[in-house]
Amino acid sequence: MPEDADAFAVPVCSDRLNDFGRELDWTFLARQGFEGKVGETQWIAAHDGGPTMLVVGAGPKAKVDAAVLRDVAAATARAARRLSWLGGALLDVAPSRMDKAGAAQAVAEGFALAAYSYDRFKTDPEPSHLERFTLVAGGPRRARAGLDRGARIAEAVALARDLVNAPAGALTPRDLAQVAIEVAEREGLGVSVLDEVDIESAGLGGLLGVNQGSDEPPRFIELTYAPADPVGSVALVGKGITFDSGGLSLKTADGMMTMKTDMSGAAAVVATLSVLSALGVAVEVSAYVPATENMPGGRAIKPGDVLRIRNGTTVEVLNTDAEGRLVLADALSLAVEAKPHAIVDLATLTGACVVALGKQVAGVMGNHDGWIAQVEAAAARADEPVWRLPLPAEYRSQLDSEVADLKNIGAPGQAGALTAGLFLQAFVGDVPWVHLDIAGPARAEADDGWISRGGTGFGVRTLVELLCSFERPQPAKVAG
Ligand code: BES
Ligand code: MN
Ligand code: ZN
Repeated sequence: MPEDADAFAVPVCSDRLNDFGRELDWTFLARQGFEGKVGETQWIAAHDGGPTMLVVGAGPKAKVDAAVLRDVAAATARAARRLSWLGGALLDVAPSRMDKAGAAQAVAEGFALAAYSYDRFKTDPEPSHLERFTLVAGGPRRARAGLDRGARIAEAVALARDLVNAPAGALTPRDLAQVAIEVAEREGLGVSVLDEVDIESAGLGGLLGVNQGSDEPPRFIELTYAPADPVGSVALVGKGITFDSGGLSLKTADGMMTMKTDMSGAAAVVATLSVLSALGVAVEVSAYVPATENMPGGRAIKPGDVLRIRNGTTVEVLNTDAEGRLVLADALSLAVEAKPHAIVDLATLTGACVVALGKQVAGVMGNHDGWIAQVEAAAARADEPVWRLPLPAEYRSQLDSEVADLKNIGAPGQAGALTAGLFLQAFVGDVPWVHLDIAGPARAEADDGWISRGGTGFGVRTLVELLCSFERPQPAKVAG
């Protein structure tokens, strides 16, 4: 117990099978209604010169894993948000076979992410007062390394949250590019930003088309992390619509309310790039971010207009609110030209995905089973729920256009998340590719454990896990 800490947090398993679980006064705890479920907390006032104690439930001992530790740490940080220094022995519930570094990483992530709040525009902010957390643990060197890692990763997630939470008026495509440049300078990344003239020369007709109705110019952002002797190369693509009004296919007032969130894919990839050098990731990573508003100005694209994407494909835009796929088509085309070993795109792409999977689960689609499996495994380790959806070849004809190579919407009311995925698939060729539709989990309505209300930073920790454990996908390709 660090002598001067304000309180000391002890985790207990509901079956009492850990040290603190055996020692505590369960008669008292039970009287308070405390059962030791994951995330339950109970204060015990200081007595006999001992510290104030915060008892935190960890559920049954046999079920404790990194996700539980992250939840336990989050509950701890929420309960102790009025204190400034907390000590704790949170790893007391970790199974002995569990790697100390991984356990400590989960604790740091849960702690830091639960303490996050977005206060930039609050006159009287009420941030967490927690400044310091002292983890008491055996195997201190591994634990310290894990804590450092977790803290860095949480910082990256916080960056993504800040970007998503920033109002569209405070984070234009130019502002987003500026953030990317600052991240690149700080972290030693390569960076290139295309302005509207460069974007035209590069033939990014999807991005230009979507931008036409906006007074804010578009940007195309590319960030590159290039370690010595890379074990492979991955391209990350993030949808960067800083505000989605729908364009001339205008959304309702209600539908627009959260549409500053429509750059969450971009936020996730920029934030991921911000932490790769600190983690010593061994794979080369390039991020491609098409950034624009989608607005209904006088020069806006009109339903029926045809755009030409970077790779030459022409697209009939029948609904200007299906804009994400248009800007992603350009970005995926550019990513493919660089011949990476694999691609992941993240996009708040469809309301249909929210209908299918709800607000907490992202849709996963792709053209390569092995690569999809790697992303699913990474998401499971990150405790970011994803669920695979198919890309049925049967539905591809829904995108056939009368006048162009493709149209940008499928049949109304039918499998909207899948036809959006099928549209993207037309731009990735044979490169192993995964599409994450994060329209649901990019934003949360309420604080919940390590998730905070507003932008969640969903995807950052999945990508970090994925890149840290990257294995080159086998050439064998399975469609759908
Ligand atoms: N950004 C939206 C998708 C979205 C909706 C994200 C709700 C988060 C919450 C996207 O650009 C969009 O408007 N998609 C349309 C596509 C349709 C016109 C084919 C949609 O989902 O309604
Ligand atoms: Mn839209
Ligand atoms: Zn959108």
